[in-house]
Amino acid sequence: MSQPAYRTMGQQFGRRSWAEPWKIKMVEPLHVPTRTQREVALRDAGYNSFLLRSEDVYIDLLTDSGTSAMSDRQWAGIMLGDEAYAGSRNFYHLEEAVQRSYGYRHLIPTHQGRGAEHLISRALIRPGQYVPGNMYFTTTRLHQELAGGTFVDVIIDEAHDPADLHPFKGNVDLEKLEALIARVGAEKIAYLSLAGTVNMAGGQPVSLANVRAVRALCNRHGIRIYLDATRLVENAFFIQEREEGYQDTPIAAIVKEFCGYTDGAWMSAKKDHLVNIGGWLAVNDPELFDALRNLVVIYEGLHTYGGMAGRDMEALAIGIAESMQDEHVRARVGQVRYLGDLLLAWDIPIVQPVGGHAIFLDAKRFYPHIPQGQFPAQALTAALYLDSGVRAMERGIVSAGRDPETGDHRRPALELTRLTIPRRVYTQAHMDVAAESVKAVYDARSAMRGLRMVYEPKYLRFFQARFEPLS
Ligand SMILES: Cc1ncc(COP(=O)(O)O)c(C=O)c1O
Repeated sequence: MSQPAYRTMGQQFGRRSWAEPWKIKMVEPLHVPTRTQREVALRDAGYNSFLLRSEDVYIDLLTDSGTSAMSDRQWAGIMLGDEAYAGSRNFYHLEEAVQRSYGYRHLIPTHQGRGAEHLISRALIRPGQYVPGNMYFTTTRLHQELAGGTFVDVIIDEAHDPADLHPFKGNVDLEKLEALIARVGAEKIAYLSLAGTVNMAGGQPVSLANVRAVRALCNRHGIRIYLDATRLVENAFFIQEREEGYQDTPIAAIVKEFCGYTDGAWMSAKKDHLVNIGGWLAVNDPELFDALRNLVVIYEGLHTYGGMAGRDMEALAIGIAESMQDEHVRARVGQVRYLGDLLLAWDIPIVQPVGGHAIFLDAKRFYPHIPQGQFPAQALTAALYLDSGVRAMERGIVSAGRDPETGDHRRPALELTRLTIPRRVYTQAHMDVAAESVKAVYDARSAMRGLRMVYEPKYLRFFQARFEPLS
């Protein structure tokens, strides 16, 4: 039988097509800046995509954080905000939603994820202690360091290789963890900092088998496990897809089981939970809860709002339920995969397997002629913006910052440019435009030069650093 001249994506992949489980009710017009406008904007922003004005951006793939489109139910929830200073009814809705979906006993709301990271780091880390984790995250590690801890990476080696196809590249390496315990002693370990999925590794998941084994090991040594649950829903999707025996288990049940192996979690609700602002911290231990409830009033706000308005808590409570729906997660990860599949078909080097929230371009293979000290992933981010107005972000040497002991650049094995897909915001056509821009920049790669850093802030430098092109 002859093939039709035009084929849908589903036909190209030998399956029936599926679509997002929503339709669009309101739109926000976009402006496409001209090439000259982009040149000026990029120079004014010091070649740092965080310093661009959003009005100068066409397709914004900077981050999936706080950039989701809320549903009509969530917007309706905004109108039901109870803005009482204390005891807002929206707080109790949120508490119930977290308890129901994640299973933890006690909830502390925070303004966003780093507020929760600050509180848990302060409450649990004593100066001189170690915090092992499955690869660092920028704000998480900084709060652990500011509390006097030292982060130790115990992720499996495969996570540092962008081409390795391990299905659970977020897994903890039990031998690395055991070696750390043997070297420093369990009492010097504040807790295990476990992320599901691992952002800096490319949005890679952790298997249930791994978290179960980690739990058993930590139990033997009396070590607690706290989870960065920011993208746990996406992690659960990969478990459902790849882990034997879970194909018929709903995402919501997988999330609950995963959390059952941990002692608590912190959350940047700006991701999985489909809201523009918000976060939380949830724990089982009543004494720790007491300490956190006391700390939150110093740094965030009263323990029944923690920096959020009542309306934000209502939208968040609704977003939690929406985020757990299998159809939603399939469409969300499916869109990320669509972009990844296009780039892979064109032999463009990206992190594989494609993760849950973003496509990560491998800048080391993209620009092998640019040394890491000349910031190839930052340069690639700038080149993409210049080509099309697509905004990405650096996840390499700039994001890794400096070693607090030696002051030298940390030089991560992964030098990546992240194209992050906001949830429920862009269409397949936007993905096509982004993919074609990556291809155009790839085709022109040999002429590209690196950058030099001309301004470097002390903390989390990737947000505010400035660069100039090398001639
Ligand atoms: C894995 C992970 N943890 C924590 C955070 C920090 O959360 P927030 O940006 O809400 O402070 C982020 C944000 O990007 C994240 O991706």
